[in-house]
Amino acid sequence: MACKSVKELQEFVEQARSVTDKGKVATYIPALGKENPSDLSIAIQYPDDTCISAGDIEKKFTLQSISKVITLALVLMDRGFDYVFERIGMEPTGEPFNSIAKIEGEQARPLNPMINSGALVVTHMIKGNSVEERIERLLSLICEMANDKEIEISNEVASSEFETAHLNRALGYFLMEHGLIKEPIEELLDLYTKQCAIEMNCHDLAQLGMVFAMDGINPISGKQIIPKDIARICKTFMVTCGMYNESGRFAIEIGIPAKSGVSGGIMGAVPGKFGIGIFGPSLNKIGNSIGGIELLKLLSNKYQLSIF
Ligand code: DON
Repeated sequence: MACKSVKELQEFVEQARSVTDKGKVATYIPALGKENPSDLSIAIQYPDDTCISAGDIEKKFTLQSISKVITLALVLMDRGFDYVFERIGMEPTGEPFNSIAKIEGEQARPLNPMINSGALVVTHMIKGNSVEERIERLLSLICEMANDKEIEISNEVASSEFETAHLNRALGYFLMEHGLIKEPIEELLDLYTKQCAIEMNCHDLAQLGMVFAMDGINPISGKQIIPKDIARICKTFMVTCGMYNESGRFAIEIGIPAKSGVSGGIMGAVPGKFGIGIFGPSLNKIGNSIGGIELLKLLSNKYQLSIF
Protein backbone atom coordinates (compact mmCIF):
# COMPACT_ATOMS: atom_id res chain seq x y z
CA MET A 1 0.00 0.00 0.00
CA ALA A 2 1.28 3.44 -0.84
CA CYS A 3 1.92 6.17 1.62
CA LYS A 4 0.21 5.03 4.78
CA SER A 5 2.12 7.71 6.66
CA VAL A 6 0.31 11.01 7.10
CA LYS A 7 3.59 12.75 7.82
CA GLU A 8 5.05 11.75 4.48
CA LEU A 9 1.90 12.82 2.66
CA GLN A 10 2.04 16.21 4.42
CA GLU A 11 5.63 16.60 3.29
CA PHE A 12 4.65 15.82 -0.30
CA VAL A 13 1.85 18.42 -0.11
CA GLU A 14 4.24 21.08 1.19
CA GLN A 15 6.77 20.27 -1.52
CA ALA A 16 4.10 20.39 -4.25
CA ARG A 17 2.61 23.61 -2.85
CA SER A 18 5.81 25.39 -3.87
CA VAL A 19 4.76 25.27 -7.56
CA THR A 20 1.26 26.67 -7.03
CA ASP A 21 2.46 30.25 -7.54
CA LYS A 22 3.36 29.33 -11.13
CA GLY A 23 -0.30 28.77 -12.01
CA LYS A 24 -3.58 30.72 -11.95
CA VAL A 25 -7.05 30.13 -10.56
CA ALA A 26 -9.77 29.84 -13.27
CA THR A 27 -11.72 33.06 -13.69
CA TYR A 28 -13.81 32.40 -16.81
CA ILE A 29 -16.38 30.99 -14.38
CA PRO A 30 -16.38 34.06 -12.09
CA ALA A 31 -17.32 32.18 -8.89
CA LEU A 32 -14.21 30.00 -9.20
CA GLY A 33 -11.98 33.09 -9.19
CA LYS A 34 -12.40 33.48 -5.42
CA GLU A 35 -10.29 30.44 -4.54
CA ASN A 36 -6.96 30.72 -2.77
CA PRO A 37 -4.25 29.64 -5.27
CA SER A 38 -1.98 28.19 -2.60
CA ASP A 39 -4.60 25.71 -1.34
CA LEU A 40 -3.60 22.10 -1.83
CA SER A 41 -5.09 19.01 -0.24
CA ILE A 42 -5.27 15.28 -0.87
CA ALA A 43 -7.14 12.24 0.41
CA ILE A 44 -6.29 8.63 -0.37
CA GLN A 45 -9.11 6.19 0.18
CA TYR A 46 -8.35 2.47 0.58
CA PRO A 47 -10.88 -0.34 0.05
CA ASP A 48 -10.57 -1.38 3.73
CA ASP A 49 -12.18 2.00 4.55
CA THR A 50 -9.04 3.65 5.81
CA CYS A 51 -8.25 7.08 4.47
CA ILE A 52 -5.18 9.21 4.84
CA SER A 53 -5.14 12.86 4.01
CA ALA A 54 -3.15 16.07 4.13
CA GLY A 55 -4.12 19.71 3.74
CA ASP A 56 -7.54 21.21 4.42
CA ILE A 57 -9.65 18.24 3.38
CA GLU A 58 -12.91 19.68 4.70
CA LYS A 59 -12.75 22.35 2.01
CA LYS A 60 -15.43 21.85 -0.63
CA PHE A 61 -14.98 22.44 -4.35
CA THR A 62 -17.02 21.71 -7.46
CA LEU A 63 -16.41 18.74 -9.73
CA GLN A 64 -16.43 20.65 -13.04
CA SER A 65 -15.06 18.30 -15.71
CA ILE A 66 -14.55 15.43 -13.25
CA SER A 67 -18.34 15.04 -13.47
CA LYS A 68 -17.91 14.01 -17.13
CA VAL A 69 -16.63 10.58 -16.09
CA ILE A 70 -19.65 9.93 -13.88
CA THR A 71 -22.18 11.15 -16.45
CA LEU A 72 -20.50 8.88 -18.99
CA ALA A 73 -20.92 5.92 -16.61
CA LEU A 74 -24.57 6.88 -16.06
CA VAL A 75 -25.45 7.19 -19.77
CA LEU A 76 -23.64 3.95 -20.61
CA MET A 77 -25.87 2.30 -17.99
CA ASP A 78 -28.91 4.20 -19.34
CA ARG A 79 -28.40 3.73 -23.06
CA GLY A 80 -25.76 1.08 -23.74
CA PHE A 81 -22.46 1.13 -25.59
CA ASP A 82 -23.75 1.31 -29.19
CA TYR A 83 -26.17 4.20 -28.64
CA VAL A 84 -23.54 6.28 -26.84
CA PHE A 85 -20.67 5.64 -29.24
CA GLU A 86 -22.76 6.25 -32.34
CA ARG A 87 -22.91 9.84 -31.07
CA ILE A 88 -19.46 10.45 -29.62
CA GLY A 89 -16.00 9.16 -30.46
CA MET A 90 -13.20 7.55 -28.47
CA GLU A 91 -10.17 9.51 -29.61
CA PRO A 92 -8.09 12.17 -27.85
CA THR A 93 -8.14 15.54 -29.59
CA GLY A 94 -4.84 17.24 -28.73
CA GLU A 95 -6.94 20.42 -28.44
CA PRO A 96 -8.05 22.44 -25.38
CA PHE A 97 -11.10 21.12 -23.50
CA ASN A 98 -13.45 23.80 -24.83
CA SER A 99 -12.28 23.75 -28.44
CA ILE A 100 -14.84 24.01 -31.20
CA ALA A 101 -12.28 23.17 -33.91
CA LYS A 102 -12.58 19.42 -34.27
CA ILE A 103 -16.36 19.11 -34.35
CA GLU A 104 -16.37 20.44 -37.89
CA GLY A 105 -16.39 17.61 -40.41
CA GLU A 106 -17.17 13.94 -39.72
CA GLN A 107 -20.89 14.56 -38.98
CA ALA A 108 -19.93 16.97 -36.18
CA ARG A 109 -19.49 13.98 -33.86
CA PRO A 110 -17.35 15.10 -30.88
CA LEU A 111 -14.13 13.11 -30.66
CA ASN A 112 -14.54 12.01 -27.04
CA PRO A 113 -16.79 12.41 -23.97
CA MET A 114 -14.23 14.31 -21.86
CA ILE A 115 -14.09 17.51 -23.95
CA ASN A 116 -16.93 19.99 -23.54
CA SER A 117 -18.60 19.24 -26.90
CA GLY A 118 -18.64 15.51 -26.13
CA ALA A 119 -19.78 16.10 -22.57
CA LEU A 120 -22.74 18.19 -23.74
CA VAL A 121 -23.85 15.27 -25.93
CA VAL A 122 -23.37 12.85 -23.01
CA THR A 123 -25.31 15.06 -20.58
CA HIS A 124 -28.09 15.30 -23.17
CA MET A 125 -28.37 11.48 -23.01
CA ILE A 126 -29.09 11.34 -19.23
CA LYS A 127 -32.57 9.85 -18.94
CA GLY A 128 -35.37 11.58 -17.01
CA ASN A 129 -38.45 13.73 -17.56
CA SER A 130 -37.03 17.00 -16.31
CA VAL A 131 -33.72 18.68 -15.49
CA GLU A 132 -34.51 18.09 -11.79
CA GLU A 133 -35.10 14.36 -12.29
CA ARG A 134 -31.96 13.96 -14.41
CA ILE A 135 -29.66 15.82 -11.99
CA GLU A 136 -31.17 13.87 -9.07
CA ARG A 137 -30.33 10.59 -10.83
CA LEU A 138 -26.72 11.73 -11.28
CA LEU A 139 -26.52 12.97 -7.68
CA SER A 140 -27.86 9.73 -6.30
CA LEU A 141 -25.21 7.73 -8.20
CA ILE A 142 -22.52 10.07 -6.86
CA CYS A 143 -23.82 9.81 -3.29
CA GLU A 144 -23.79 6.02 -3.57
CA MET A 145 -20.19 6.10 -4.79
CA ALA A 146 -19.09 8.52 -2.04
CA ASN A 147 -21.06 6.89 0.81
CA ASP A 148 -22.38 10.37 1.51
CA LYS A 149 -26.01 11.45 1.40
CA GLU A 150 -25.19 15.15 1.76
CA ILE A 151 -23.56 15.87 -1.59
CA GLU A 152 -25.24 18.87 -3.20
CA ILE A 153 -24.93 21.43 -5.96
CA SER A 154 -23.32 24.83 -5.44
CA ASN A 155 -26.02 27.11 -6.83
CA GLU A 156 -23.57 29.99 -6.79
CA VAL A 157 -21.11 28.22 -9.09
CA ALA A 158 -23.89 26.76 -11.28
CA SER A 159 -25.47 30.17 -11.95
CA SER A 160 -22.09 31.84 -12.35
CA GLU A 161 -21.26 29.36 -15.12
CA PHE A 162 -24.78 29.44 -16.64
CA GLU A 163 -24.60 33.21 -17.07
CA THR A 164 -21.17 33.16 -18.73
CA ALA A 165 -21.24 29.88 -20.72
CA HIS A 166 -21.15 31.57 -24.13
CA LEU A 167 -18.74 29.08 -25.65
CA ASN A 168 -20.68 26.04 -24.39
CA ARG A 169 -23.88 27.66 -25.76
CA ALA A 170 -22.15 28.01 -29.13
CA LEU A 171 -21.04 24.36 -28.99
CA GLY A 172 -24.59 23.36 -28.05
CA TYR A 173 -26.20 25.16 -31.00
CA PHE A 174 -23.62 23.72 -33.38
CA LEU A 175 -24.36 20.21 -32.12
CA MET A 176 -28.10 20.88 -32.34
CA GLU A 177 -27.72 21.96 -35.97
CA HIS A 178 -26.15 18.54 -36.62
CA GLY A 179 -28.89 16.59 -34.84
CA LEU A 180 -26.76 15.49 -31.87
CA ILE A 181 -28.75 17.57 -29.37
CA LYS A 182 -32.52 17.63 -29.50
CA GLU A 183 -33.56 19.57 -26.40
CA PRO A 184 -33.54 23.34 -25.84
CA ILE A 185 -29.94 24.47 -25.33
CA GLU A 186 -30.86 26.58 -22.28
CA GLU A 187 -32.35 23.48 -20.63
CA LEU A 188 -29.27 21.40 -21.46
CA LEU A 189 -26.96 24.13 -20.12
CA ASP A 190 -29.01 24.31 -16.93
CA LEU A 191 -28.41 20.56 -16.46
CA TYR A 192 -24.75 20.70 -17.55
CA THR A 193 -23.80 23.63 -15.31
CA LYS A 194 -25.54 21.96 -12.34
CA GLN A 195 -23.65 18.74 -13.07
CA CYS A 196 -20.36 20.66 -13.12
CA ALA A 197 -21.29 22.46 -9.87
CA ILE A 198 -21.73 19.29 -7.79
CA GLU A 199 -19.72 20.06 -4.70
CA MET A 200 -17.67 17.83 -2.40
CA ASN A 201 -14.41 17.54 -0.48
CA CYS A 202 -11.27 15.52 -1.24
CA HIS A 203 -12.37 12.58 0.84
CA ASP A 204 -15.62 12.23 -1.15
CA LEU A 205 -13.67 12.53 -4.39
CA ALA A 206 -11.19 9.86 -3.29
CA GLN A 207 -14.13 7.52 -2.69
CA LEU A 208 -15.38 8.15 -6.22
CA GLY A 209 -11.91 7.34 -7.51
CA MET A 210 -11.86 4.17 -5.42
CA VAL A 211 -15.06 2.86 -7.06
CA PHE A 212 -13.35 3.13 -10.46
CA ALA A 213 -10.17 1.61 -9.02
CA MET A 214 -12.19 -1.35 -7.75
CA ASP A 215 -13.90 -2.06 -11.11
CA GLY A 216 -17.17 -0.35 -10.20
CA ILE A 217 -17.56 -1.95 -6.75
CA ASN A 218 -17.93 0.22 -3.68
CA PRO A 219 -15.99 -1.93 -1.19
CA ILE A 220 -17.52 -0.07 1.74
CA SER A 221 -21.14 -0.88 0.88
CA GLY A 222 -20.13 -4.06 -0.98
CA LYS A 223 -22.29 -3.04 -3.95
CA GLN A 224 -21.39 -3.20 -7.63
CA ILE A 225 -22.48 0.36 -8.42
CA ILE A 226 -21.14 0.55 -11.97
CA PRO A 227 -20.80 -2.56 -14.18
CA LYS A 228 -17.18 -3.68 -14.49
CA ASP A 229 -17.03 -3.12 -18.24
CA ILE A 230 -18.33 0.45 -17.92
CA ALA A 231 -15.81 1.20 -15.15
CA ARG A 232 -13.13 -0.10 -17.51
CA ILE A 233 -14.30 2.22 -20.33
CA CYS A 234 -14.34 5.22 -17.95
CA LYS A 235 -10.83 4.46 -16.67
CA THR A 236 -9.57 4.11 -20.23
CA PHE A 237 -10.92 7.56 -21.11
CA MET A 238 -9.29 8.90 -17.95
CA VAL A 239 -5.95 7.65 -19.29
CA THR A 240 -6.37 8.80 -22.90
CA CYS A 241 -8.28 12.09 -22.39
CA GLY A 242 -8.69 12.72 -18.64
CA MET A 243 -6.01 15.41 -18.43
CA TYR A 244 -6.92 16.97 -21.79
CA ASN A 245 -4.06 17.91 -24.06
CA GLU A 246 -1.46 16.84 -21.54
CA SER A 247 -2.88 13.32 -21.09
CA GLY A 248 0.15 11.88 -22.93
CA ARG A 249 2.70 13.61 -20.70
CA PHE A 250 0.63 12.73 -17.62
CA ALA A 251 0.54 9.05 -18.67
CA ILE A 252 4.31 9.01 -19.15
CA GLU A 253 5.26 10.94 -16.02
CA ILE A 254 2.55 9.69 -13.63
CA GLY A 255 0.61 6.83 -15.25
CA ILE A 256 -2.48 6.90 -13.02
CA PRO A 257 -5.98 6.99 -14.59
CA ALA A 258 -7.14 10.47 -13.57
CA LYS A 259 -9.64 13.21 -14.38
CA SER A 260 -9.23 16.91 -13.75
CA GLY A 261 -11.61 19.84 -13.43
CA VAL A 262 -11.05 23.61 -13.72
CA SER A 263 -11.98 23.98 -10.07
CA GLY A 264 -8.60 22.38 -9.39
CA GLY A 265 -9.92 18.94 -8.51
CA ILE A 266 -8.26 15.73 -9.68
CA MET A 267 -9.79 12.27 -9.19
CA GLY A 268 -7.34 9.39 -9.45
CA ALA A 269 -8.00 5.65 -9.58
CA VAL A 270 -5.07 3.33 -8.94
CA PRO A 271 -6.47 0.01 -10.20
CA GLY A 272 -7.09 -2.55 -7.48
CA LYS A 273 -5.45 -0.33 -4.86
CA PHE A 274 -7.06 2.99 -3.94
CA GLY A 275 -8.79 6.19 -4.97
CA ILE A 276 -7.27 9.67 -4.83
CA GLY A 277 -9.01 13.03 -4.38
CA ILE A 278 -7.01 16.24 -4.81
CA PHE A 279 -7.94 19.91 -4.62
CA GLY A 280 -5.51 22.60 -5.73
CA PRO A 281 -7.18 25.50 -7.58
CA SER A 282 -4.05 27.01 -9.13
CA LEU A 283 -4.09 25.72 -12.72
CA ASN A 284 -1.44 25.32 -15.40
CA LYS A 285 -2.01 26.61 -18.95
CA ILE A 286 -3.90 23.46 -19.96
CA GLY A 287 -6.40 23.94 -17.12
CA ASN A 288 -5.16 21.19 -14.78
CA SER A 289 -4.21 21.67 -11.11
CA ILE A 290 -0.52 22.57 -11.14
CA GLY A 291 0.08 21.56 -7.51
CA GLY A 292 -2.08 18.47 -7.94
CA ILE A 293 0.01 17.22 -10.83
CA GLU A 294 3.23 17.87 -8.89
CA LEU A 295 1.83 15.99 -5.91
CA LEU A 296 0.81 13.00 -8.06
CA LYS A 297 4.25 12.98 -9.64
CA LEU A 298 5.89 12.74 -6.20
CA LEU A 299 3.54 9.97 -5.09
CA SER A 300 3.69 7.98 -8.28
CA ASN A 301 7.47 8.07 -8.49
CA LYS A 302 7.99 7.17 -4.85
CA TYR A 303 5.48 4.30 -4.85
CA GLN A 304 5.68 3.25 -8.51
CA LEU A 305 1.99 3.75 -9.10
CA SER A 306 2.15 3.91 -12.89
CA ILE A 307 -0.06 1.29 -14.50
CA PHE A 308 2.34 1.03 -17.43
O1 DON B 1 -17.69 23.56 -19.22
C1 DON B 1 -16.77 24.09 -18.62
O2 DON B 1 -16.00 24.87 -19.18
C2 DON B 1 -16.56 23.76 -17.15
N1 DON B 1 -17.81 23.59 -16.49
C3 DON B 1 -15.76 22.52 -16.99
C4 DON B 1 -14.43 22.55 -17.71
C5 DON B 1 -13.35 21.81 -17.02
O3 DON B 1 -13.42 21.50 -15.86
C6 DON B 1 -12.11 21.58 -17.80
N2 DON B 1 -11.11 20.96 -16.94
N3 DON B 1 -9.98 21.03 -16.74
